Amino acid sequence: MPSVKQDAVQEIKDRLDLVDLISEHLRLQKAGRDLKGLCPFHQEKTPSLYVSPEKQLWHCYGCQKGGDHFTFIQDIEHVDFRGALRLLAEKTGVILEESPGAGRQRELKRTISKLNLLAAQYFHHILLENAAGQRALIQLESRGVTRASMTEFQLGFAPAGQRKDNLVRFLRKHGATDGEMQEAGLAIKPDGGGELWDRFRQRIIIPIHDEHGELVAFGGRVIDDSAQPKYLNTSQTALYDKGRTLFNLHRARKSIHELKHAVLMEGYFDAITAWQAGVTNVVTTSGTALGEHQVRLLKRETQELLLAFDRDDAGLNATQRAIELATKSGIYIKVVRVPQGKDPDDYLRAHPDGWPNLREHALPEWEYLLRQALASLDLTDARERRRGAELVIPVLAKIPEASVLEIYAQQAAGWLRIEPAALLRDVQALKSGAKFPSSAGPAKFASQSGPLPPPQAVEGNFQKDEGYLLGLLIERPDLVPEIAGELRAVSFSAPAYERVFARLQQMVEAQATVRPTDRLSEFAPDEQGLISAVAMAKYPELDSGSEAALRQSLEQCLQTLKINAAQRRLKALVAEMRAARATGDESRLVTLMQENDRLAHQLDALKDLRHGQG
Ligand code: UTP
Ligand code: MN
Repeated sequence: MPSVKQDAVQEIKDRLDLVDLISEHLRLQKAGRDLKGLCPFHQEKTPSLYVSPEKQLWHCYGCQKGGDHFTFIQDIEHVDFRGALRLLAEKTGVILEESPGAGRQRELKRTISKLNLLAAQYFHHILLENAAGQRALIQLESRGVTRASMTEFQLGFAPAGQRKDNLVRFLRKHGATDGEMQEAGLAIKPDGGGELWDRFRQRIIIPIHDEHGELVAFGGRVIDDSAQPKYLNTSQTALYDKGRTLFNLHRARKSIHELKHAVLMEGYFDAITAWQAGVTNVVTTSGTALGEHQVRLLKRETQELLLAFDRDDAGLNATQRAIELATKSGIYIKVVRVPQGKDPDDYLRAHPDGWPNLREHALPEWEYLLRQALASLDLTDARERRRGAELVIPVLAKIPEASVLEIYAQQAAGWLRIEPAALLRDVQALKSGAKFPSSAGPAKFASQSGPLPPPQAVEGNFQKDEGYLLGLLIERPDLVPEIAGELRAVSFSAPAYERVFARLQQMVEAQATVRPTDRLSEFAPDEQGLISAVAMAKYPELDSGSEAALRQSLEQCLQTLKINAAQRRLKALVAEMRAARATGDESRLVTLMQENDRLAHQLDALKDLRHGQG
């Protein structure tokens, strides 16, 4: 179980984006997937401090400092870890003291989590194994939902025949109290009091997880289409906040990384049908508009978002809102246009291979909004063209970057058959007259020293060396025990590497699913600098998801370690042989020379192997 302190650390990181925190102290500008700025910890004229929004890590390639939120505050405010924790807790409103209330809250979360797991099993069992689930099962099948998806998404059915307390009785048998079931949002007191009822009755159940994969809530869809409301979610609980959760994120994360974009759809069944069609990078909100916290969750995974909402009015509004919100945070957006009258679910059921085509024809956000503004106009008519100009000006005024604005002003001017310069003048006038949100964020600031290629390590084309090995293991700590076996005979060349590896080993032993970058504060400052550097590098074998490529890289890293170890020993041998010769210790000299020969051979063989692998 995570400690109280670990909970607070995580909570602070969840609430405060590292990019926003660092932006309070220096100007950041875009550099590929990362951002960069002038390092405040040493003198420099060109930026070498990089921040990764995805990994929530920073590193300066000039002075080798780096780490997470806490390291940054420690360094910039000259405080120790506890001091940084206090400052950041205050800033984010996270409560540190283990008050009796906090202890109770944690206990409650644990209870709810347990009840959710039991309920999910119960619902799933009823759907697949019980006569009460028959109708729901047929309905799901007629919707095209496969058995494989029912298992993958652990779909279920909440029955209600004569009795309205089926789940309640099941949970009671497992020791749950009435209060706990209500706190978990699984049971309600009916109006007028009396016995407890199940919250979900006669509904198909869709389990909802948080970004860490914890089961936090359920969505329920009626099976009788005349019943209201069509969808019902778990109410807000200690574990679940609708506006802070993205359905399917934990499943989609890997493929979001691989495909370098996420897709946002509206409904659970959009995501499920998409998954069946092989589109596995889909997330959805739960009937609410995309919120800031959800954007923050997405921004950690990717810089590009594809919106695929319904083409009805609600969908159009949601698209517009999502664009405004997400561009503010520097995410690139494209809009997929699902054929009129359909949602992605309908479309993908009818065309399971249709996604690549839709995706290719997705429009960049501004082009989408401009076309949308002009959609109902007849641009061959002069009066409608004038109306068109009025409509596109406020859209153009929202574009933060001058160069991007110019591109779209040209496009819109072309459609309207007017001078781009005239359109731009009107946009400027609107911008300077009206209050305009300063939304561009860090990317707005131009580089002071012209573009500079990012350091090698950021590009990731550096050697498969010891740092590379650590980087891979930080992303895939599950491999640590196996590598530890291989490393028994050889060690890392630098003590800091050795210490980081040993600490990783301890962490994995204590908790197999640990994410080392979540627990940076357990490493010393120089170790954090090391970790941030290697963790921010790009690892193509991890992005590609190819286990074979990963194996090969690990093998190459291990060879490097062996080569380095052999070279270190050879160097030491030279000195030892000289000493033996000086003291005339013949037999010792012979032993040393034999070892020398053996090592030299080994080294040659290792180097041949490495060149053989290219
Ligand atoms: P809709 O009401 O538009 O669903 O809500 P729909 O696409 O017509 O539903 P189906 O296809 O007939 O099943 C859009 C989506 O928002 C979510 C659901 O996932 C729903 O599919 N939603 C809506 C909730 O999670 N909770 C709500 O209270 C409402
Ligand atoms: Mn639908």
